[in-house]
Amino acid sequence: MQGINEVEGKVAIVTGAASGIGRAITELLVARGARVIAEDIDPAVLAMESPSVVPLVADIAAEGSAEKAVALAMDRFSRLDLLVNNAGIIINKLVVDMSRDDWERIMNVNVTGAFLHSREAVKAMIPQRSGAIVNVASYASYFAFPTIAAYTASKAALAQLTRTLALEAIGHGIRVNAVGSGDVLTNILNTVAPDGNGVAALAAHGKSAPIGRAADPEEIAEVVLFLASERASFMVGSVVMADGGMSVKVGS
Ligand SMILES: NC(=O)c1ccc[n+]([C@@H]2O[C@H](COP(=O)([O-])OP(=O)(O)OC[C@H]3O[C@@H](n4cnc5c(N)ncnc54)[C@H](O)[C@@H]3O)[C@@H](O)[C@H]2O)c1
Repeated sequence: MQGINEVEGKVAIVTGAASGIGRAITELLVARGARVIAEDIDPAVLAMESPSVVPLVADIAAEGSAEKAVALAMDRFSRLDLLVNNAGIIINKLVVDMSRDDWERIMNVNVTGAFLHSREAVKAMIPQRSGAIVNVASYASYFAFPTIAAYTASKAALAQLTRTLALEAIGHGIRVNAVGSGDVLTNILNTVAPDGNGVAALAAHGKSAPIGRAADPEEIAEVVLFLASERASFMVGSVVMADGGMSVKVGS
């Protein structure tokens, strides 16, 4: 069993790396000796460039971006050990008010982007006979909340992609798992919070979790690191809840 440097020398792709959970994952992987292709639609990701971080500005749902990310890992580091499908977006609308465009935008990023990147990553990992994929799912993979139907449906789909791909990939030595995140203090709600303060909205909602607070992004990154590492060698198709107890609570 490996020790603290279990991702030392490994090569990862992290989507949505410029902010929040993805940034914390990238920083933790690098701190533990990994090299990361940091992919984000936000050019702010370019500022993360370092000997261990290769930024890629791309829309994960766009045709060719997954191929580009994998090619970058291969060109720069000659291998790919880990894909973290983290990028995600949310909208806040009742189903009756939601346009087809709204629905498709969420599905394209949260599900199709993860599918495309997983497909290309697995193709690169099969010849290596090893690898790991970690998806950032949510307690919304299982539970319903009014006004975020597209998001909950997308996160449920991501959980099922995790389980099904896990069955297909494990024969090649590739483990696929997910973290079911609870409320985390990030900017994801900035565009949907009435006052534009997504962090405050998440902090307030987090108080309803049994733990009484929302998480810091680093707390989710730790779970991702574990699932990525050989310490999780027997974990296949798991969606590990890290939600301060939100999903085991009965009632509101
Ligand atoms: N914050 C929470 O409470 C929470 C809870 C459960 C799950 N999650 C999940 O965690 C993941 C990360 O979210 P976060 O909270 O860190 O949000 P965030 O908004 O801080 O970060 C998301 C990042 O993804 C990037 N991104 C968005 N669309 C993209 C695209 N099409 N292509 C490439 N990059 C794109 C954004 O630019 C941003 O940098 C998401 O999948 C989200 O659904 C978050």
